Amino acid sequence: MPVEAKKEQDVRLLVRTLVKEQGREKAELIPILHEINGEFGYISDDAIQELSQQMNIPTSHIYSVATFYRMLSTEPRGRHVIQFCESAPCHVAGGRQVWQKLQKELGLSKGETSADDKWTLLTTSCLGVCGVGPVMIIDNDIYGNVTPDQVPNILENYK
Ligand code: FES
Repeated sequence: MPVEAKKEQDVRLLVRTLVKEQGREKAELIPILHEINGEFGYISDDAIQELSQQMNIPTSHIYSVATFYRMLSTEPRGRHVIQFCESAPCHVAGGRQVWQKLQKELGLSKGETSADDKWTLLTTSCLGVCGVGPVMIIDNDIYGNVTPDQVPNILENYK
């Protein structure tokens, strides 16, 4: 079976299992989307279509929820997702230099995923911890007071 067909079958099976376990209530939509995103790294069109059928919710509504939350994605992402704060307080605390170093180390620009699918580099608005800017999040880890020199060591933590 081609890889894409297998993925489609897997995601549809996961959706059916999750809906069976958690129920069809609308309140379960976000937790289910989180599970799918965690398992596949993003929420595919196939996942949205299957969810729509199983939960009887329009695909347009599911899509709007999936694109509203920063932690969910409807595009494939790398295994590690970097979110770099680009709001003004972090920027003036040295964020610009850290951002440049990050792009250089990874060979990526904003919004790109590396060819080996290891990294996705994103920016975000204020994360609410401006006192320790510049700030970035890698997966679920938050880094504050980041300097350009620290960037290679921080990336090394993610083999
Ligand atoms: S401006 Fe970066 S955390 Fe608030």
